[in-house]
Amino acid sequence: MKILIINGPNLNMLGKRDPTHYGAKSLKEIEGLVGEKARDLGVEVEFFQSNHEGDLVGYIQTEAPQASGIVINAGALTHYSLALRDALVDSRLPVMEVHLSNIHAREEFRHYSTIAPIAIGQIAGLGWQGYNFALEYLATHIER
Ligand code: DQA
Repeated sequence: MKILIINGPNLNMLGKRDPTHYGAKSLKEIEGLVGEKARDLGVEVEFFQSNHEGDLVGYIQTEAPQASGIVINAGALTHYSLALRDALVDSRLPVMEVHLSNIHAREEFRHYSTIAPIAIGQIAGLGWQGYNFALEYLATHIER
């Protein structure tokens, strides 16, 4: 079982972004921890980050046929990208949405997600561990 772990714009800057929202770990550190979790679960993961909407859409189009599910933190694209949402729908894969911060406790423009209605679920506000919870849930969901 292969699961794609996708991060959108500005998440390459984790560790340098506001730690009160996003924690202190870099994306590389988080990917290392998620990789460990994947090994424990016996799941293969592939990581991808881009600051460009079209690259994210292209990656999903190319990689989804070889994958069983997607964990995605789309960053700010979450709040307005219909192209990314369409790519996720077209992938026909189960999707878990992750946010490091609690987007519902922040500015109003962050409360709306284009992805939430087409995702199995959303994890927000649990920091980097949200990726692990999402991965674990998705792996059991796919097995069922
Ligand atoms: C984020 C929340 C978004 O609103 C923001 O634009 C991000 C990160 C999060 O992980 O909390 O870049 O997706």
